[in-house]
Amino acid sequence: VKIVKTISEMQNISINHKKEGKTIAVVPTMGYFHDGHISLMKYARENADIIIVTLFVNPTQFAPDEDFDRYPRDTEQDSRKAEENNCDYLFRPTVEEMYPFGFITEIRIGGVTEKFEGVTRPFHFNGVTTIVSKLFNATLPDIAVFGQKDYQQTIVIKQLIRDLNYNIKIDIVPTLREPDGLAMSSRNIYLSAEYRKKAPGIYKALISVKKSIEKGLRKRSEINSLLIKKISKTPELKIDYACAADAETLEEPDEFRRDRKIVLLAACYLGKTRLIDNIVV
Ligand code: PAF
Repeated sequence: VKIVKTISEMQNISINHKKEGKTIAVVPTMGYFHDGHISLMKYARENADIIIVTLFVNPTQFAPDEDFDRYPRDTEQDSRKAEENNCDYLFRPTVEEMYPFGFITEIRIGGVTEKFEGVTRPFHFNGVTTIVSKLFNATLPDIAVFGQKDYQQTIVIKQLIRDLNYNIKIDIVPTLREPDGLAMSSRNIYLSAEYRKKAPGIYKALISVKKSIEKGLRKRSEINSLLIKKISKTPELKIDYACAADAETLEEPDEFRRDRKIVLLAACYLGKTRLIDNIVV
């Protein structure tokens, strides 16, 4: 894998590959690769000629009281994993490269960013859409690969691609899970051994409510109450939000139509660690 640190070098590389008629897939990440990231790299490998993985812990998507400083980082190991998984380029810019002195632009999307994650983390998605735009402009991909684990983020990026006319196909790869069901996340390392045992309670609740929806439950208030009740079976899980929404639009109708997919979204605190998960029914 070739490490690239500047936007201009990255753009030149992509332009040259495009001239050769190659297709480019980008996998945007914040590093500390686990098997979930590897599954995104594998998906990219199977669907494009050139794979660019971006590794940038983006300061603008963290609030001042969030975990930017202690977010796990291991660039040596990440480079090795990108190499082992046949990625062609690891784009690893510095904060100064992405946000040079005088940088003042921010991309803000309304609507879909204002609920769920957007309530607890009001500026989070502005940071995400701004950096993802910059990463698209640096890597010039044909395909962008994101994980389903950050479900609302995938909806927001789809909106970004539509609204700013990026000629990029977005592909969403299913969440990878630990054997007990916990969604893989770089933040799982924050969990103490005791909390780690409690963490799969979120997925168990999602699965249980999924079954009720499959049996015919369609009223949103009833689905939400059931989800809260099921998560509360693990009292250590402090619910931030747990709700059902339309899987494509994130709208919240009183009653879901039978021909629409529903996404169940949950964010919970285990001690100070905030975990998110979701399931599509
Ligand atoms: O999902 C992530 O890791 C980040 O939000 C992303 C898309 C790389 C932007 O910083």
